[in-house]
Amino acid sequence: MSSDFKKTEEWITRANKERCAAPNGGLCWGKVIWNGKLINLYTNKDFINYIFTQPIAPTLPENKTCMIADFGAGNGYVAQTVVSQLEQPCVIPIGIDRYHPDLKVMKQEKCLVQPIVKPVQGDLRKRPLKENFLPFKKNTFHAGIFRFALSFIGKNFQPQVFKQISRVMKPSAVLVVLNYGVFEENEKNVDAHDILYAKGSAASGRWTFENLKKNMHDPSCEHLIDMAEEAGFEVKAKTDLTDIALGYTSPEIYKKLYRLNSDQHEKLKAVFEKCKEKGVLPFEPDSLGVLRPMYSCVLKKKAPSPSP
Ligand SMILES: C[S@@+](CC[C@H](N)C(=O)[O-])C[C@H]1O[C@@H](n2cnc3c(N)ncnc32)[C@H](O)[C@@H]1O
Repeated sequence: MSSDFKKTEEWITRANKERCAAPNGGLCWGKVIWNGKLINLYTNKDFINYIFTQPIAPTLPENKTCMIADFGAGNGYVAQTVVSQLEQPCVIPIGIDRYHPDLKVMKQEKCLVQPIVKPVQGDLRKRPLKENFLPFKKNTFHAGIFRFALSFIGKNFQPQVFKQISRVMKPSAVLVVLNYGVFEENEKNVDAHDILYAKGSAASGRWTFENLKKNMHDPSCEHLIDMAEEAGFEVKAKTDLTDIALGYTSPEIYKKLYRLNSDQHEKLKAVFEKCKEKGVLPFEPDSLGVLRPMYSCVLKKKAPSPSP
């Protein structure tokens, strides 16, 4: 296992290097080994099919126009891919994001497959709850996608994000979440995970650790389920992907991603060493490579109980 891990890490590191040398800068993040192949989990269509399309497809009503929301959609790639994989003829994908640049990208995206995701600006986080801070009526969506956006929403805001999503989804609609984070709630490893990734990203000098620690949080799957249940969802499935889709991070990978100077790289190595000493994240024994904990979760909005 250990030498396999090493090989895997070398493979990912090399792939990241190659991607960084790409004329457009490439995207290093999200490289994982899945089913024995190196894939990018952001763009691989089979992986998107496995995580999102398969749980969503059987839940959509037949012969009806369906609305699917991608919450924190970025450039809308996931919604676009899911809709292209569904056999449903009339599905309207809506990509909701709070930032203009993403919406712009979504509008300009030269999509090879139809239909194109409709961009809508909306903030999943805004207060107070009473206001309709997502510009949709109650019970609008037949399904939802929520991929890697929750982390960008501060810890204190996360419970209300689920309430907000629940409000705009139809009863019995399915929401599929893909998130970085540890599977089971344990204060030590949840914190170690947040600290490692905040320190890693801060090493680039583009953000401060304090800011990242305050504004970014990857909840455990267990905690995410608590928040979702509180907002009116029930759990249909949950999968710890840490061992299924092996995604490595190491100081070398950060270095390639952010082009750190040698001083920053050394500091970052010390961060990984300290985190490894604590033994709360899944480090590879012979290196500073750490498996990127990740999980997916299929949630179903509960139908209201019939009045007595
Ligand atoms: C890592 S990107 C993921 C994008 C996309 N879901 C994907 O998987 O490719 C996180 C996205 O969440 C969006 N986001 C962060 N905070 C948000 C908020 N409060 N409301 C809506 N979108 C938000 C960001 O603008 C960004 O596009």
